[in-house]
Amino acid sequence: MKLVDAKKRAEELRKTINEHNHRYYVLHQPVISDFEFDILLNELQAIEKNFPELVTPDSPTMRVGSDVTEEFVQVEHVWPMLSLGNTYSPEEIVDFGERIKKTLGYEPEYVCELKYDGVSISLTYENGTLARAVTRGDGLAGDDVTANVRTIRSIPVTVSAKDLPSSFVMRGEIYLPHKGFEEMNAVRQSRGEPLFANPRNAAAGTLKLLDPRIVATRPLNCFLYYLLGDQLPSDNHYDNIMAARGWGFRTPDVMELCKGMDEVISFITSWEHERRKLPYDTDGVVVKVNSLAAQRLLGSTAKSPRWAIAYKYAAEQAVTELLSVDFQVGRTGNVTPVANLRPVLLAGTTVKRASLHNSDQIILLGLHYGDSVIIEKGGEIIPKIVGVDRERRSGQSGEVIFPDRCPECGTPLVRTEGEANHYCPNYLHCPPQITRRIIHFVSRKALDIEGLGEETVEMLWSKGLIHNVADLYDLRQEQLASLERLGDKSALNIITGLRGSLSAPWHRKLFALGIRHVGETVAKTIAAGFTDIDMLVEATEEQLAALPEIGPRISASIREYFSDKDNIEIIRRLKAAGMTFTGPAQQAKTAGPLSGKTIVVSGTFEGFSRDGIKAAIEAAGGKASASVSGSTSFIVAGRDMGPAKRAKALELGIPVLSEEEFVKMMKE
Ligand code: IVH
Repeated sequence: MKLVDAKKRAEELRKTINEHNHRYYVLHQPVISDFEFDILLNELQAIEKNFPELVTPDSPTMRVGSDVTEEFVQVEHVWPMLSLGNTYSPEEIVDFGERIKKTLGYEPEYVCELKYDGVSISLTYENGTLARAVTRGDGLAGDDVTANVRTIRSIPVTVSAKDLPSSFVMRGEIYLPHKGFEEMNAVRQSRGEPLFANPRNAAAGTLKLLDPRIVATRPLNCFLYYLLGDQLPSDNHYDNIMAARGWGFRTPDVMELCKGMDEVISFITSWEHERRKLPYDTDGVVVKVNSLAAQRLLGSTAKSPRWAIAYKYAAEQAVTELLSVDFQVGRTGNVTPVANLRPVLLAGTTVKRASLHNSDQIILLGLHYGDSVIIEKGGEIIPKIVGVDRERRSGQSGEVIFPDRCPECGTPLVRTEGEANHYCPNYLHCPPQITRRIIHFVSRKALDIEGLGEETVEMLWSKGLIHNVADLYDLRQEQLASLERLGDKSALNIITGLRGSLSAPWHRKLFALGIRHVGETVAKTIAAGFTDIDMLVEATEEQLAALPEIGPRISASIREYFSDKDNIEIIRRLKAAGMTFTGPAQQAKTAGPLSGKTIVVSGTFEGFSRDGIKAAIEAAGGKASASVSGSTSFIVAGRDMGPAKRAKALELGIPVLSEEEFVKMMKE
């Protein structure tokens, strides 16, 4: 390669790599896999090696990508937060071992750990108290996310132990377990919000939320795998981590001391498949020299230490043919594209379908029918199409085009600005919307009517017996029993189930109505705020938006639902059938010694658990809040109240009560 060409290519690569870094660290929306990213980085590294005159100090080969955002205060790291070199083959690991042997003059002991796929965090403890939690940022300074990190239960706010250094730094990885990730996406889907592509992005996005109260509702967790400080308990990594475990930190549960490279390679091999059984994502193994003296001798480059390396397992991928795309219409009219694939074996299961999310995804991939598509499965997530092998495309295959009309009823589709999904607005007459709405109404999480499954609902609809949920309550037992596929027993079951549903809790009925963006959690919030459907029918968008976590999108959707006279008629008929739409009277809930007060609790308590004290506040009519602000009535301080909260209370002149004083106040 000539110097001019190398220069041009290096500039191109730097620009592309910087863009991908921004997508990954700041937007949490990567469009290429880590593996593809490393290929780009390796190419740039090779050019810079051959043409050292082309190296620039700000080249992405010289520094780590930055997650710094404007919303947080930036804090400098006392010890820079480096990244690790990535390798993809055992040979590269052996080379790493050889380099080390050469520098040290002997083969050291290694520690192998799993490489957690989350977001790195640096926790500073001073005199046993968590003083700061900072993201990696650009490696030199990161975002101060202490308030958010304090909500993570497995991260101790205070630690005490005999051998605890007065000041130390614990580093690790914040992640979201698969279950939490799936629940979070389910909530987002029910609210029509864009889904997170994987648990790592969801964790990264959550950690950068501005409201710690929302962070507290997300099940983030953390493994801490690196202890730094001036007075450490031991001069080797393994014993330091064991000491930290003794102090109460959640350290890696998989950690192995390896005598030499052979043991390192067998650790890597043995975890390749085993790791998939873990309830969280791992993407490789981190190999570290155990002795800190040897680590100091080996030193670091500007970007990564020479005493550690990451071995990354390739994500399991398969190539198959795209046969067709179904555009499925959901109960709220959302149109979701689902790819039908030539069946292929991937990570132990046969894959026939893959999700395509929305029209943006199709455009991004530039999909054609008959394409050879690359599908990938990470952890337990449903497979997705991550790429297309364009070279194998035949000339005449047609492009996959998102329809502009509903594939079921032909109505032009609508896309609300700022939303990723298209939906069919023909709420009343689009067949799958009608049946899916009824199916949702009777489903387990809604009114849970036994005997009324998907098939039965569809059969009743096709026979013209039901057109909406109110029609269900006009069904008669003899009428059902005379139907082909139902007998006396099923008919009785259905009728009993329907009768029982009349007195189901109010929030379930609200959820059952299937209002767009009103999922289970939102329904509970609204049902708590409006204890009667008539109040809700009359509520203005502003009144709705005043409820916690209810934004303009949800309130507009509720208004739209109740301004439709057909919906009002259905509610009238349900009421006539004996259905009540009321919750426990609000008065009983809010009247109490703490009515109208907003209270912040901080620290740990003698007589209450954390959730217990909040429940006590709410039972007494108060509101428990996570952050100190001008509207805080007072703070209840337990043991080890956070210094930041104390300072803020002092600044705003907010009273701070002890646990004893609080209990006394409740009694009064
Ligand atoms: S040790 C000096 N151990 O991987 C590097 N890192 O690509 C100290 N990671 O920045 C890091 N699991 O965010 C270490 N068991 C583990 C890890 C781990 C995941 C992350 C970490 C690091 C990145 C490097």
